[in-house]
Amino acid sequence: MTGFDVQQFRQHFAFFQQQPDWVYLDNAATMHKPDAVIDAVSAFYQRHNSNVHRGAHRLSQQATAQFEQARATVAGYINARNNHEVIFTSGATAALNQIAFGLMHTVLQPGDRILLTQLEHHANIVPWQLHCQRYGIIIDVVPLTAEHQLDMVAYQQLLQLKPKVVSFSHISNVLGHIQPVAEMVRQAKAAGAITVIDGAQGIVYQPADMQQLDCDFYVFSGHKLYGPTGIGVLYGKSQWLETLTPIFAGGEMIDSVSFINTTFNKLPFRLEAGTPNIAGAIGLSAAIDWLQNYNIAQIIEHKLLLLKAFYSGLSAIKGIDILSLPVHNAGIVALNVDGQHPADVAELLNQQHIAVRAGQHCAMPLFSYLAQHNSAQHGAVRCSFAAYNTLDEVNRCLLALEQAVEILTA
Ligand code: ALA
Repeated sequence: MTGFDVQQFRQHFAFFQQQPDWVYLDNAATMHKPDAVIDAVSAFYQRHNSNVHRGAHRLSQQATAQFEQARATVAGYINARNNHEVIFTSGATAALNQIAFGLMHTVLQPGDRILLTQLEHHANIVPWQLHCQRYGIIIDVVPLTAEHQLDMVAYQQLLQLKPKVVSFSHISNVLGHIQPVAEMVRQAKAAGAITVIDGAQGIVYQPADMQQLDCDFYVFSGHKLYGPTGIGVLYGKSQWLETLTPIFAGGEMIDSVSFINTTFNKLPFRLEAGTPNIAGAIGLSAAIDWLQNYNIAQIIEHKLLLLKAFYSGLSAIKGIDILSLPVHNAGIVALNVDGQHPADVAELLNQQHIAVRAGQHCAMPLFSYLAQHNSAQHGAVRCSFAAYNTLDEVNRCLLALEQAVEILTA
Protein backbone atom coordinates (compact mmCIF):
# COMPACT_ATOMS: atom_id res chain seq x y z
CA MET A 1 0.00 0.00 0.00
CA THR A 2 1.28 3.46 -0.87
CA GLY A 3 -1.49 5.73 0.46
CA PHE A 4 -2.27 6.66 -3.14
CA ASP A 5 -5.82 5.79 -4.20
CA VAL A 6 -5.41 4.85 -7.86
CA GLN A 7 -9.13 4.11 -8.37
CA GLN A 8 -10.07 7.56 -7.10
CA PHE A 9 -7.40 9.09 -9.37
CA ARG A 10 -8.70 7.17 -12.40
CA GLN A 11 -12.20 8.49 -11.89
CA HIS A 12 -10.98 11.89 -13.06
CA PHE A 13 -10.38 10.52 -16.56
CA ALA A 14 -13.38 10.16 -18.87
CA PHE A 15 -11.23 7.97 -21.12
CA PHE A 16 -11.13 5.13 -18.60
CA GLN A 17 -14.89 5.28 -18.07
CA GLN A 18 -15.53 5.24 -21.81
CA GLN A 19 -12.85 2.77 -22.88
CA PRO A 20 -12.67 0.33 -19.95
CA ASP A 21 -11.18 -2.40 -22.17
CA TRP A 22 -7.99 -0.51 -22.86
CA VAL A 23 -4.76 -0.85 -20.88
CA TYR A 24 -2.91 2.31 -21.77
CA LEU A 25 0.86 1.89 -21.39
CA ASP A 26 1.98 4.49 -23.93
CA ASN A 27 2.23 7.31 -21.44
CA ALA A 28 5.73 8.37 -22.48
CA ALA A 29 4.21 9.26 -25.86
CA THR A 30 1.27 11.17 -24.40
CA MET A 31 -0.87 11.05 -21.27
CA HIS A 32 -4.62 10.99 -20.92
CA LYS A 33 -6.29 14.19 -19.79
CA PRO A 34 -8.30 14.56 -16.60
CA ASP A 35 -11.77 16.13 -16.77
CA ALA A 36 -10.37 19.28 -15.15
CA VAL A 37 -8.25 19.90 -18.26
CA ILE A 38 -10.98 19.06 -20.78
CA ASP A 39 -13.43 21.28 -18.87
CA ALA A 40 -11.00 24.19 -18.67
CA VAL A 41 -10.32 24.08 -22.42
CA SER A 42 -14.06 23.77 -23.23
CA ALA A 43 -14.98 26.59 -20.83
CA PHE A 44 -12.45 28.87 -22.49
CA TYR A 45 -13.88 28.25 -25.95
CA GLN A 46 -17.51 28.31 -24.78
CA ARG A 47 -17.38 31.39 -22.57
CA HIS A 48 -14.23 33.45 -23.04
CA ASN A 49 -12.83 32.81 -26.50
CA SER A 50 -10.83 35.83 -27.57
CA ASN A 51 -7.32 36.75 -28.60
CA VAL A 52 -4.79 37.90 -26.01
CA HIS A 53 -2.80 41.10 -25.46
CA ARG A 54 -4.48 43.02 -28.25
CA GLY A 55 -8.22 43.41 -27.82
CA ALA A 56 -9.94 46.62 -26.82
CA HIS A 57 -12.77 44.61 -25.26
CA ARG A 58 -13.35 42.89 -21.95
CA LEU A 59 -13.33 39.37 -23.43
CA SER A 60 -9.80 39.86 -24.66
CA GLN A 61 -8.77 41.30 -21.32
CA GLN A 62 -10.21 38.23 -19.58
CA ALA A 63 -8.46 35.88 -22.00
CA THR A 64 -5.20 37.76 -21.42
CA ALA A 65 -5.63 37.48 -17.66
CA GLN A 66 -6.27 33.72 -17.94
CA PHE A 67 -3.32 33.24 -20.27
CA GLU A 68 -0.96 35.20 -18.04
CA GLN A 69 -2.30 33.39 -14.98
CA ALA A 70 -1.42 30.13 -16.78
CA ARG A 71 2.13 31.42 -17.21
CA ALA A 72 2.27 32.27 -13.50
CA THR A 73 1.02 28.77 -12.62
CA VAL A 74 3.75 27.13 -14.72
CA ALA A 75 6.39 29.50 -13.31
CA GLY A 76 5.26 28.61 -9.79
CA TYR A 77 5.27 24.89 -10.53
CA ILE A 78 8.88 24.94 -11.71
CA ASN A 79 9.94 27.63 -9.22
CA ALA A 80 11.16 30.04 -11.89
CA ARG A 81 12.40 33.38 -10.56
CA ASN A 82 10.10 35.36 -12.86
CA ASN A 83 6.95 34.64 -14.87
CA HIS A 84 8.64 36.04 -17.99
CA GLU A 85 11.15 33.17 -17.83
CA VAL A 86 8.33 30.90 -19.02
CA ILE A 87 7.91 31.04 -22.80
CA PHE A 88 4.95 29.15 -24.24
CA THR A 89 5.82 27.07 -27.30
CA SER A 90 4.02 24.30 -29.16
CA GLY A 91 6.00 21.65 -27.25
CA ALA A 92 9.44 20.52 -26.14
CA THR A 93 10.56 20.09 -29.77
CA ALA A 94 9.73 23.72 -30.62
CA ALA A 95 11.47 24.87 -27.44
CA LEU A 96 14.67 22.97 -28.27
CA ASN A 97 14.60 24.31 -31.83
CA GLN A 98 14.29 27.84 -30.45
CA ILE A 99 17.24 27.35 -28.13
CA ALA A 100 19.46 25.80 -30.82
CA PHE A 101 18.53 28.44 -33.41
CA GLY A 102 18.83 31.27 -30.92
CA LEU A 103 22.24 30.28 -29.60
CA MET A 104 23.64 29.50 -33.06
CA HIS A 105 22.93 33.06 -34.12
CA THR A 106 24.45 34.69 -31.08
CA VAL A 107 26.65 32.86 -28.61
CA LEU A 108 28.14 30.06 -30.71
CA GLN A 109 31.13 30.70 -32.95
CA PRO A 110 32.92 28.51 -35.52
CA GLY A 111 35.04 25.89 -33.76
CA ASP A 112 32.85 25.86 -30.64
CA ARG A 113 31.67 22.53 -29.25
CA ILE A 114 28.27 21.28 -28.10
CA LEU A 115 28.00 18.26 -25.84
CA LEU A 116 24.99 15.90 -26.20
CA THR A 117 24.48 12.31 -25.03
CA GLN A 118 23.97 9.00 -26.79
CA LEU A 119 20.44 8.61 -25.44
CA GLU A 120 18.91 11.86 -26.65
CA HIS A 121 15.56 12.08 -28.42
CA HIS A 122 15.95 13.35 -32.00
CA ALA A 123 14.50 16.67 -30.83
CA ASN A 124 17.68 17.23 -28.83
CA ILE A 125 20.00 16.20 -31.67
CA VAL A 126 18.66 17.38 -35.00
CA PRO A 127 17.96 21.05 -34.10
CA TRP A 128 21.66 21.38 -33.19
CA GLN A 129 22.80 19.40 -36.22
CA LEU A 130 20.74 21.57 -38.59
CA HIS A 131 23.07 24.46 -37.84
CA CYS A 132 26.33 22.89 -36.75
CA GLN A 133 27.79 22.13 -40.15
CA ARG A 134 26.86 25.53 -41.51
CA TYR A 135 28.37 27.37 -38.57
CA GLY A 136 31.39 25.06 -38.15
CA ILE A 137 30.37 23.85 -34.71
CA ILE A 138 31.40 20.44 -33.38
CA ILE A 139 29.05 18.01 -31.60
CA ASP A 140 30.54 15.64 -29.01
CA VAL A 141 28.53 12.77 -27.56
CA VAL A 142 28.63 11.27 -24.06
CA PRO A 143 28.67 7.46 -24.50
CA LEU A 144 26.83 4.91 -22.38
CA THR A 145 28.19 2.24 -20.09
CA ALA A 146 27.53 -1.46 -20.64
CA GLU A 147 24.47 -1.05 -18.33
CA HIS A 148 23.08 1.63 -20.70
CA GLN A 149 23.72 4.43 -18.27
CA LEU A 150 25.53 7.65 -19.07
CA ASP A 151 29.27 7.22 -18.72
CA MET A 152 29.98 9.94 -16.17
CA VAL A 153 33.75 9.52 -16.45
CA ALA A 154 33.53 10.19 -20.18
CA TYR A 155 31.22 13.12 -19.40
CA GLN A 156 33.87 14.71 -17.21
CA GLN A 157 36.52 14.14 -19.88
CA LEU A 158 34.36 15.66 -22.61
CA LEU A 159 33.68 18.69 -20.42
CA GLN A 160 37.42 19.32 -20.47
CA LEU A 161 37.02 20.14 -24.18
CA LYS A 162 35.10 23.21 -22.92
CA PRO A 163 31.79 22.87 -24.75
CA LYS A 164 29.83 26.13 -24.95
CA VAL A 165 26.54 24.22 -24.56
CA VAL A 166 25.72 20.96 -22.79
CA SER A 167 22.24 19.61 -23.57
CA PHE A 168 20.81 16.39 -22.15
CA SER A 169 17.56 14.74 -21.19
CA HIS A 170 16.36 14.54 -17.61
CA ILE A 171 14.90 11.06 -18.21
CA SER A 172 15.48 8.84 -21.23
CA ASN A 173 12.24 8.51 -23.23
CA VAL A 174 13.28 4.97 -24.23
CA LEU A 175 14.91 3.43 -21.16
CA GLY A 176 13.27 5.49 -18.42
CA HIS A 177 16.63 6.00 -16.71
CA ILE A 178 16.74 9.09 -14.52
CA GLN A 179 19.93 11.04 -15.21
CA PRO A 180 21.91 12.66 -12.39
CA VAL A 181 20.90 16.06 -13.73
CA ALA A 182 21.82 18.14 -10.69
CA GLU A 183 25.36 16.78 -10.76
CA MET A 184 25.55 17.10 -14.54
CA VAL A 185 24.48 20.74 -14.39
CA ARG A 186 26.97 21.43 -11.59
CA GLN A 187 29.86 19.93 -13.57
CA ALA A 188 28.82 21.60 -16.83
CA LYS A 189 28.60 24.99 -15.16
CA ALA A 190 31.99 24.48 -13.54
CA ALA A 191 33.30 23.90 -17.09
CA GLY A 192 31.67 27.18 -18.18
CA ALA A 193 28.91 25.69 -20.36
CA ILE A 194 25.34 26.83 -20.95
CA THR A 195 23.09 24.03 -19.69
CA VAL A 196 19.96 22.82 -21.48
CA ILE A 197 17.71 20.09 -20.09
CA ASP A 198 15.12 18.23 -22.13
CA GLY A 199 12.53 17.67 -19.40
CA ALA A 200 9.85 16.09 -21.64
CA GLN A 201 9.82 12.94 -19.50
CA GLY A 202 11.41 14.45 -16.40
CA ILE A 203 8.67 16.92 -15.53
CA VAL A 204 6.15 14.07 -15.54
CA TYR A 205 8.09 12.12 -12.97
CA GLN A 206 8.45 14.98 -10.52
CA PRO A 207 8.32 18.78 -10.54
CA ALA A 208 11.69 20.29 -11.38
CA ASP A 209 12.85 23.26 -9.31
CA MET A 210 14.60 25.74 -11.60
CA GLN A 211 16.25 27.72 -8.83
CA GLN A 212 17.59 24.61 -7.16
CA LEU A 213 18.64 22.90 -10.39
CA ASP A 214 20.13 26.17 -11.63
CA CYS A 215 20.17 25.08 -15.30
CA ASP A 216 20.02 27.78 -17.96
CA PHE A 217 17.19 26.20 -19.97
CA TYR A 218 14.61 23.48 -19.24
CA VAL A 219 11.92 22.44 -21.74
CA PHE A 220 8.84 20.24 -21.66
CA SER A 221 5.57 19.47 -23.41
CA GLY A 222 2.14 19.97 -21.86
CA HIS A 223 0.60 16.81 -23.28
CA LYS A 224 2.91 14.52 -21.32
CA LEU A 225 1.89 16.29 -18.10
CA TYR A 226 -1.88 15.62 -18.41
CA GLY A 227 -2.27 18.81 -20.48
CA PRO A 228 -3.37 19.39 -24.08
CA THR A 229 -1.24 18.78 -27.15
CA GLY A 230 0.25 21.80 -28.92
CA ILE A 231 1.45 23.59 -25.80
CA GLY A 232 4.91 23.42 -24.31
CA VAL A 233 7.29 25.36 -22.14
CA LEU A 234 10.67 26.88 -22.76
CA TYR A 235 12.05 27.94 -19.40
CA GLY A 236 15.19 30.03 -19.54
CA LYS A 237 17.06 32.34 -17.24
CA SER A 238 16.27 35.91 -18.28
CA GLN A 239 19.84 36.66 -19.39
CA TRP A 240 19.83 33.70 -21.80
CA LEU A 241 16.32 34.27 -23.12
CA GLU A 242 17.37 37.86 -23.88
CA THR A 243 20.32 36.46 -25.84
CA LEU A 244 18.29 34.13 -28.08
CA THR A 245 17.52 35.24 -31.61
CA PRO A 246 13.78 34.53 -32.08
CA ILE A 247 13.13 31.59 -34.38
CA PHE A 248 9.72 33.00 -35.29
CA ALA A 249 9.00 36.62 -36.08
CA GLY A 250 5.72 38.44 -36.60
CA GLY A 251 3.04 40.02 -34.49
CA GLU A 252 3.32 40.45 -30.73
CA MET A 253 7.07 39.93 -30.56
CA ILE A 254 7.91 43.40 -31.85
CA ASP A 255 8.06 46.83 -30.29
CA SER A 256 8.14 48.83 -33.52
CA VAL A 257 8.42 47.88 -37.19
CA SER A 258 9.45 49.89 -40.21
CA PHE A 259 11.11 48.88 -43.46
CA ILE A 260 14.31 50.40 -42.11
CA ASN A 261 14.41 48.76 -38.70
CA THR A 262 12.47 46.58 -36.24
CA THR A 263 12.80 46.66 -32.49
CA PHE A 264 11.60 43.86 -30.28
CA ASN A 265 9.16 43.47 -27.43
CA LYS A 266 10.29 42.51 -23.94
CA LEU A 267 10.23 38.98 -22.54
CA PRO A 268 8.29 36.76 -22.74
CA PHE A 269 6.61 38.26 -25.82
CA ARG A 270 9.71 38.60 -28.02
CA LEU A 271 9.88 34.79 -28.18
CA GLU A 272 6.13 34.25 -28.69
CA ALA A 273 5.38 35.47 -32.21
CA GLY A 274 1.79 35.24 -33.42
CA THR A 275 -1.33 34.14 -31.60
CA PRO A 276 -0.30 31.66 -28.93
CA ASN A 277 -2.12 28.47 -28.02
CA ILE A 278 -4.30 30.23 -25.46
CA ALA A 279 -6.59 27.30 -24.69
CA GLY A 280 -3.55 25.02 -24.51
CA ALA A 281 -1.87 27.21 -21.90
CA ILE A 282 -5.10 27.36 -19.89
CA GLY A 283 -5.41 23.58 -20.16
CA LEU A 284 -1.82 23.04 -19.03
CA SER A 285 -2.36 25.32 -16.08
CA ALA A 286 -5.53 23.37 -15.18
CA ALA A 287 -3.49 20.14 -15.36
CA ILE A 288 -0.91 21.55 -12.93
CA ASP A 289 -3.58 22.89 -10.55
CA TRP A 290 -5.33 19.52 -10.60
CA LEU A 291 -2.13 17.52 -10.13
CA GLN A 292 -1.25 19.58 -7.10
CA ASN A 293 -4.20 18.01 -5.26
CA TYR A 294 -2.08 14.87 -5.09
CA ASN A 295 1.02 13.95 -3.18
CA ILE A 296 3.81 13.51 -5.74
CA ALA A 297 5.84 11.30 -3.38
CA GLN A 298 2.87 8.90 -3.16
CA ILE A 299 2.48 8.90 -6.93
CA ILE A 300 6.16 8.06 -7.35
CA GLU A 301 5.81 5.26 -4.82
CA HIS A 302 2.78 3.90 -6.68
CA LYS A 303 4.68 3.93 -9.98
CA LEU A 304 7.62 2.16 -8.34
CA LEU A 305 5.23 -0.51 -7.10
CA LEU A 306 3.97 -1.02 -10.67
CA LEU A 307 7.52 -1.12 -11.96
CA LYS A 308 8.58 -3.66 -9.35
CA ALA A 309 5.63 -5.91 -10.18
CA PHE A 310 6.37 -5.58 -13.90
CA TYR A 311 10.05 -6.48 -13.53
CA SER A 312 9.24 -9.36 -11.24
CA GLY A 313 6.71 -10.73 -13.76
CA LEU A 314 9.08 -10.20 -16.69
CA SER A 315 11.83 -12.17 -14.98
CA ALA A 316 9.53 -15.19 -14.96
CA ILE A 317 8.95 -15.05 -18.73
CA LYS A 318 11.66 -16.84 -20.74
CA GLY A 319 12.82 -15.13 -23.91
CA ILE A 320 12.36 -11.50 -22.87
CA ASP A 321 15.34 -9.19 -23.21
CA ILE A 322 14.94 -6.14 -20.96
CA LEU A 323 16.91 -3.07 -22.04
CA SER A 324 15.96 -0.77 -19.16
CA LEU A 325 17.43 -0.98 -15.68
CA PRO A 326 14.96 -1.33 -12.80
CA VAL A 327 16.85 1.15 -10.60
CA HIS A 328 16.64 4.92 -11.09
CA ASN A 329 13.84 4.24 -13.52
CA ALA A 330 10.89 6.61 -13.91
CA GLY A 331 8.46 3.89 -15.03
CA ILE A 332 9.48 3.32 -18.65
CA VAL A 333 10.60 -0.16 -19.72
CA ALA A 334 12.06 -1.02 -23.13
CA LEU A 335 12.13 -4.72 -23.95
CA ASN A 336 12.15 -7.25 -26.74
CA VAL A 337 11.09 -10.81 -27.27
CA ASP A 338 14.34 -12.51 -28.34
CA GLY A 339 14.67 -12.63 -32.08
CA GLN A 340 11.27 -11.03 -32.75
CA HIS A 341 10.38 -7.73 -34.34
CA PRO A 342 9.02 -5.29 -31.72
CA ALA A 343 6.17 -4.32 -34.07
CA ASP A 344 4.94 -7.93 -34.03
CA VAL A 345 4.95 -8.01 -30.24
CA ALA A 346 3.17 -4.65 -30.03
CA GLU A 347 0.55 -5.83 -32.52
CA LEU A 348 -0.20 -8.90 -30.40
CA LEU A 349 -0.61 -6.61 -27.38
CA ASN A 350 -2.79 -4.26 -29.43
CA GLN A 351 -5.08 -7.17 -30.27
CA GLN A 352 -5.67 -7.44 -26.53
CA HIS A 353 -6.25 -3.69 -26.22
CA ILE A 354 -2.91 -3.02 -24.60
CA ALA A 355 -1.37 0.18 -25.95
CA VAL A 356 2.44 0.31 -26.11
CA ARG A 357 4.89 1.90 -28.54
CA ALA A 358 7.26 -0.10 -30.73
CA GLY A 359 10.22 1.02 -32.81
CA GLN A 360 13.14 3.32 -32.24
CA HIS A 361 11.19 5.92 -30.29
CA CYS A 362 12.80 8.94 -32.01
CA ALA A 363 16.17 7.85 -30.61
CA MET A 364 18.05 6.17 -33.47
CA PRO A 365 21.54 6.92 -32.10
CA LEU A 366 20.59 5.15 -28.87
CA PHE A 367 19.42 2.12 -30.83
CA SER A 368 22.62 2.07 -32.91
CA TYR A 369 24.37 1.67 -29.58
CA LEU A 370 21.90 -0.86 -28.13
CA ALA A 371 22.04 -2.98 -31.28
CA GLN A 372 25.68 -3.85 -30.49
CA HIS A 373 24.72 -5.30 -27.13
CA ASN A 374 21.18 -6.59 -27.36
CA SER A 375 18.38 -7.87 -29.49
CA ALA A 376 17.46 -4.33 -30.47
CA GLN A 377 18.15 -4.36 -34.21
CA HIS A 378 14.65 -3.10 -34.97
CA GLY A 379 14.10 -1.04 -31.86
CA ALA A 380 12.10 -2.15 -28.85
CA VAL A 381 8.67 -2.43 -27.33
CA ARG A 382 8.18 0.31 -24.76
CA CYS A 383 5.79 0.00 -21.82
CA SER A 384 5.46 3.31 -20.00
CA PHE A 385 3.45 3.59 -16.81
CA ALA A 386 1.50 6.48 -15.35
CA ALA A 387 -0.11 7.19 -12.00
CA TYR A 388 -3.50 5.98 -13.28
CA ASN A 389 -2.21 2.50 -14.17
CA THR A 390 -3.06 -0.36 -11.83
CA LEU A 391 -1.48 -3.62 -10.75
CA ASP A 392 -4.25 -5.45 -12.65
CA GLU A 393 -3.12 -3.69 -15.81
CA VAL A 394 0.49 -4.67 -15.16
CA ASN A 395 -0.65 -8.29 -14.84
CA ARG A 396 -2.70 -8.07 -18.04
CA CYS A 397 0.35 -6.81 -19.88
CA LEU A 398 2.55 -9.56 -18.43
CA LEU A 399 0.06 -12.23 -19.46
CA ALA A 400 -0.18 -10.79 -22.96
CA LEU A 401 3.63 -10.73 -23.23
CA GLU A 402 3.81 -14.34 -22.11
CA GLN A 403 1.29 -15.27 -24.78
CA ALA A 404 3.20 -13.21 -27.36
CA VAL A 405 6.37 -15.19 -26.58
CA GLU A 406 4.47 -18.46 -27.00
CA ILE A 407 2.87 -17.40 -30.28
CA LEU A 408 5.97 -15.89 -31.84
CA THR A 409 8.43 -18.56 -30.80
CA ALA A 410 6.16 -21.60 -31.32
N1 ALA B 1 8.61 11.73 -27.57
C1 ALA B 1 7.48 10.87 -27.48
C2 ALA B 1 7.87 9.45 -27.20
O1 ALA B 1 8.92 9.20 -26.68
C3 ALA B 1 6.55 10.99 -28.62
O2 ALA B 1 7.11 8.57 -27.51
